[in-house]
Amino acid sequence: MSASVQQRPLAGQTALVTGAAQGIGRATAIALAEAGALVWINHLRQSDAAAALVADIEAAGGRARTVQADVASPMQVASLFEEVLAAGPLDILVNNAGVILEKPFVDTDEDDWAHVLGVDLGGVYRCCRHALRHMQTRQSGCIVNIASELGFVGRADYVAYCTAKAGVIGLTRSLAREFAPHIRINGVAPGPVDTPMVSLAHMSAEMVAKESDIPAGRLGRPEEIAAAVLFLVSPGASFFHGQMLGANGGAWMGS
Ligand SMILES: NC(=O)c1ccc[n+]([C@@H]2O[C@H](COP(=O)([O-])OP(=O)(O)OC[C@H]3O[C@@H](n4cnc5c(N)ncnc54)[C@H](O)[C@@H]3O)[C@@H](O)[C@H]2O)c1
Repeated sequence: MSASVQQRPLAGQTALVTGAAQGIGRATAIALAEAGALVWINHLRQSDAAAALVADIEAAGGRARTVQADVASPMQVASLFEEVLAAGPLDILVNNAGVILEKPFVDTDEDDWAHVLGVDLGGVYRCCRHALRHMQTRQSGCIVNIASELGFVGRADYVAYCTAKAGVIGLTRSLAREFAPHIRINGVAPGPVDTPMVSLAHMSAEMVAKESDIPAGRLGRPEEIAAAVLFLVSPGASFFHGQMLGANGGAWMGS
């Protein structure tokens, strides 16, 4: 294999990363662009951060574009895919956009439930549906869904989030069976990662402090999750269908 194929395994491919203006999504967009893909940066009201990311990718010799859409909105997701697919075929979808909620279950009202499930599970459902209609006609494509270790193990006071992430795991495995062998659908179930999500803006001080109490002894870096996503969409992962890679610092060792 030539050096350029090894270094840019995604050359000629187009990827879409949802919620990509910061955190894990941002690192994933950079990793995919470095691997040669043209990357669509989906964001929700983060135009400046998304534009800055495109500038960073282009300065490094890569290609990227921004597209705003709320993944919880069926209409906005339809427009997102219209725009992306009008520009050319889509090879890779990374469903990364997510929100977290720390709240006792009895205080988690209908609006909380609808919001968390609507973004974290509904967003993955509707982006997969649009992407798979397109990928099915081409008989090729790769999807990676970002779940969470918490989707396997659960956590008190995070019931809506854990339920949504457990749903993402079930969705990923079911879709992987329905669309194999030509379309590969996998996921990454990160442990605690150092992003704005793991901060006092979204979690209690007690929970933030507990997050790095895992075998790795530290939070993960967004780039460590991006590396797992990059592997799953690369030719080297050609025998992976319906898997959830546990990039979690040893927080949980099941499967
Ligand atoms: N940070 C962690 O410890 C951790 C652990 C496991 C899983 N995850 C998952 O990784 C993914 C990325 O999280 P992160 O840690 O980078 O968090 P983050 O809060 O830094 O980034 C999430 C991004 O999603 C975007 N977003 C939220 N709602 C959206 C919507 N409706 N439409 C479009 N975009 C939306 C946000 O604007 C933000 O840019 C999420 O799915 C999260 O659940 C994170």
